[in-house]
Amino acid sequence: MPETVDIVVVGSVNLDQVIEVPALPAPGETVLGGPVTRLGGGKGANQAVAAARLGAGVALVGAVGRDPDSDWLRTELAAEGVDVSRLAALDGPPGHAVVLVDRRAENSIVVSPGANAQLTPAAVAAAGPLLGAATVVLAQLEIPPAAVLEAARHARGTFVLNPAPAPAPASGLPPELWPLVDVLVPNRSELARLRGVPDAAVADPAAVARLTAGLPCARVVVTLGGDGVLVREEGAVTVLPAPVVRAVDTTGAGDTFCGALAVALAERRTLTEAARFAVRAAALSVGHTGARTGMPTRAALDRATAPDHACEGADAGAP
Ligand code: RIB
Repeated sequence: MPETVDIVVVGSVNLDQVIEVPALPAPGETVLGGPVTRLGGGKGANQAVAAARLGAGVALVGAVGRDPDSDWLRTELAAEGVDVSRLAALDGPPGHAVVLVDRRAENSIVVSPGANAQLTPAAVAAAGPLLGAATVVLAQLEIPPAAVLEAARHARGTFVLNPAPAPAPASGLPPELWPLVDVLVPNRSELARLRGVPDAAVADPAAVARLTAGLPCARVVVTLGGDGVLVREEGAVTVLPAPVVRAVDTTGAGDTFCGALAVALAERRTLTEAARFAVRAAALSVGHTGARTGMPTRAALDRATAPDHACEGADAGAP
């Protein structure tokens, strides 16, 4: 296995069970859906795949179980070109997720963490040299906060945190983590949770811009779905539009965005240029069911963003 890679993702691996439903169930409601589709998922693994498809050298630090499902998840990641040599095999099942997708391409997801919850700081520290040599280290919150903190401590390049799923206000994140975060990439509801405000308070981009000013991180990228993406850097705020697309399933759009952002940062682009690259990749990802199915290769992204390709616009369902 290579001693250095461009990007190390420290995060979760899940087996997604995807069911298409006419509408997401309300509390207490039962709905009938379509067949169950089993797909590779987990925010960490998805972000690693997104980056690998875009041509980066990627390793994933995480944990699965020792069962056939875990073997399948590992094999699938390796087939995508992700270095899985730091993926621990632990007793018990891997992470599982039940993903409901409705006709408007919206989803509801429940995650049973399985092995992801057992990822220890020591296991992350064992990948210390790899983390230290990477240009970008990317983490999310489907693994224990202590493991995320350990990853940040070992990172010498750009440390990117996607605070997903949003931390509960009471449990929060270790305060020592914040000075180590170079770029924070929340979506609207994660931003609301981090700032302790209701979701209604992040409805419009101007409010989002105001709320990013109070975060303990100077470089912030907020994904706004159809409203595009907001970048705060050096005190300046830029809103980039999302391309117009027909969305089938928005699951994994945020993961595609984060993986692509990491690729562009590893290529030494500015944060705004990286966000522009990532929002285009995320827009392409929502055209198919499943978190990874629509994630573009570099060639597909280049084709879609060529000057004569008419998809650049101002409204979309991604990321
Ligand atoms: O972001 C999408 C992912 O969230 C799914 O693949 C699911 O596994 C959950 O981790």
